[in-house]
Amino acid sequence: MNVVPDLEAGRLAALSAALPDGILMTGAEDLSRYSRDWSGDHVGRPLAVARPRSVADVSRILALCHAHAIPVVPQGGLTGLVGAAVADPGGGELVVSLERLDRVRTVSPIDFAMVVEAGCILEEAKRQADAVDCLLPITFGAQGSCRIGGTVATNAGGFNVLRYGMTRDLVLGLEVVLSDGRVWNGLKMLRKDNRGYDLKQLFIGAEGTLGIVTAAALKLHPRPTQVETALVGLRSVEDVMALYARARRECSDLLTAFELILRGGIEIALAARPDFSEPLSEACPVYVLIEAAAGGRVDLKAILEDFLIDAGGLVVDGVVASSRAQGERLWLLREVMVEAQGRGGRYLRTDVSVPISTLAAFVDAALEALAARHPDALAVTYGHVGDGNVHLNVVPPVGMGPEAVEALFHAAEAVIFDVVDRFSGSISAEHGIGRVKRSAFLERIDPVSLDLATRVKQALDPTGIMSAGRILAPLAPIGYR
Ligand code: LAC
Ligand code: ZN
Repeated sequence: MNVVPDLEAGRLAALSAALPDGILMTGAEDLSRYSRDWSGDHVGRPLAVARPRSVADVSRILALCHAHAIPVVPQGGLTGLVGAAVADPGGGELVVSLERLDRVRTVSPIDFAMVVEAGCILEEAKRQADAVDCLLPITFGAQGSCRIGGTVATNAGGFNVLRYGMTRDLVLGLEVVLSDGRVWNGLKMLRKDNRGYDLKQLFIGAEGTLGIVTAAALKLHPRPTQVETALVGLRSVEDVMALYARARRECSDLLTAFELILRGGIEIALAARPDFSEPLSEACPVYVLIEAAAGGRVDLKAILEDFLIDAGGLVVDGVVASSRAQGERLWLLREVMVEAQGRGGRYLRTDVSVPISTLAAFVDAALEALAARHPDALAVTYGHVGDGNVHLNVVPPVGMGPEAVEALFHAAEAVIFDVVDRFSGSISAEHGIGRVKRSAFLERIDPVSLDLATRVKQALDPTGIMSAGRILAPLAPIGYR
């Protein structure tokens, strides 16, 4: 006897009976839009999709799910890369999309802070900060689609972490609906507040497993009035690290980005866009995209140019953008590389980190290990030097069948993670654990950390309905409770 359809029908009936009209969607066509992530790598089977219009709606939905033990997965822009916001493929999870809670509640240039609802697209929040001469410095490729709730729930990183920190460093307060439907109002704009535990930290990077973030108070910075971009070519990652160490000091700590791209990545971008030409006068093994930003009267261009001239021994060739448009074209190289790297198919993504001082040795060791074990696969390497964070991605050989590809991803990931372990690094510096990296995460976590994490989970989500199976193992199989 298959009990699941009856269980699902009962749950759907309970939800439709209790929720106001226009919140619940159950039609197959409606659900398909909320079933797959941006990459297409993760496809789920939602029980239904709830689209609350208010915090009170979110509260009502979770109270109901808590009472009926209905598994829930909060969803934002679906640009996460680890399957955290996609419904369980086995079925049974209610997707709660935050897309209708999309207001910027306040922007206060005097406080250098803004309060934004979870469903607001990151780029829109940035635009509203910009309109009052402020900068919301969270910046990455998916910013035009991702939403603030997901940005907070994944503790998103990106290009400007070396200057402004991860999302966690920019959160002043949160409003969260707990798994039983209670609303925790931790929204505040205080810069300093030492009253007991900093509870908001629990929800940042929790990937929706502890509650639903409905709004965030975020720190702003003054909007830079000058931005300079350069692309330089070097001989080795070791030279890149030496350049970085000098750049932090000699550019008056005004660096906002220091992005590593190995030659292979540049070749991918050049192949994908015939209108692109070789960016420097000669091909180099390694490139760095450097950005610096400042306000006020400093002569930023002179600072950057002088630094690059002084660093002549390390730099093979380089170009400083002569206009914003040229700077944007340099960034486009990276964007095109990221989009084109999989040749339209699947590829293994990693987002590992090691201590900055060991990044060069790590990249060499990991690429050597990959080349020895998987000589046919293409390794694409780029990353955020200032964060010791590198994406070592693996593209399967053309024509490899899907099962062999899966096996390759599994084996190549193990090779990379093994090197990460040797360097005392992290198997996830940016994208999180989700469902994709759960086993690798749990294989490595120490017993005391696992005990603490499990007890936090049990305290905040005693019935285990929140994003079950992400980060930690589910309390019971999803859909059968
Ligand atoms: C990047 C994101 C994918 O660095 O982490 O492009
Ligand atoms: Zn990244």
